[in-house]
Amino acid sequence: MTDESIGDGGAWLPQWTPPPIERGQARPARIYDYLLGGKDNFEVDREAAEVALDLMPELRAMARVNRAFLGRAVRHLAEAGITQFLDIGSGIPGPGNTGEVARRVHPEARVVYVDYDPIVCAHSRALLVGADPDRTAILQADVREPKTILDSGAVHAVLDFDQPIAVLMVAVLDFVSDVEDAHGIAIQFLDALAPGSGLALSHASEGREPGKFGAARKGWNNATSQLVLRDRQEVGRFFTGTELLAPGVVIIPAWRPDHELTDAERDLDYGYAGVGIKR
Ligand SMILES: C[S@@+](CC[C@H](N)C(=O)[O-])C[C@H]1O[C@@H](n2cnc3c(N)ncnc32)[C@H](O)[C@@H]1O
Repeated sequence: MTDESIGDGGAWLPQWTPPPIERGQARPARIYDYLLGGKDNFEVDREAAEVALDLMPELRAMARVNRAFLGRAVRHLAEAGITQFLDIGSGIPGPGNTGEVARRVHPEARVVYVDYDPIVCAHSRALLVGADPDRTAILQADVREPKTILDSGAVHAVLDFDQPIAVLMVAVLDFVSDVEDAHGIAIQFLDALAPGSGLALSHASEGREPGKFGAARKGWNNATSQLVLRDRQEVGRFFTGTELLAPGVVIIPAWRPDHELTDAERDLDYGYAGVGIKR
């Protein structure tokens, strides 16, 4: 993969040309955007999402609680003193994106957004026009190629790997199979980080009604990436080598909620989340 990176203000423009936008095949980022009520999606994404929603109406709430977890995890990691963030599978940015939340705590926070989807990168660039190129970069790259990301000049121009970095893999390893070694990928990222670094991760799971999520995801069988479901133990294994912050690996809305959970949220067990600190 080429280093299609770009910082704000055009500091990173190595042979960058606007990527072709793929309208013919549903894409995880645009399905997720539709579930969140966004407008950055096409007919093919909406159709895929609606097939899934017919079988599993909870998907909208799942998307919402997942995005909210991302914000809480970033805030807690920033409050714990981390000022650098590597957001992998960052998605189409909305209000409360990683940089916004981190800079409420540390105005000088450094953030690199990584996603394999050209539309995500295009939206991220638009959002970040005018931001400080020394503190923000966007990299179009695939989480399944950790070395590409970890060796990228754009990443190293913004993040200092001798200091703690929070790696965010929020609802992204769901698109990486065991054959592609999802757990090995997480280890490669953790290995590259200094002690005191963080890992925030959420992941889809079967939930209390076995078969339901599995059936619903068939709605996007033709999407560019398939959704993998993992149970709580498998999600916990991503945190090997870290010390889990309380309350550990829990259903997504229950990770340090900032309001009393509703009954509906308590029942939302189609995914797990956690935050660990590298020893
Ligand atoms: C469900 S969205 C999650 C977005 C964001 N992390 C959040 O939680 O709000 C999944 C994101 O992962 C990205 N993604 C999926 N597979 C990927 C891969 N192999 N490499 C990089 N990004 C990937 C998609 O493009 C999409 O933006």
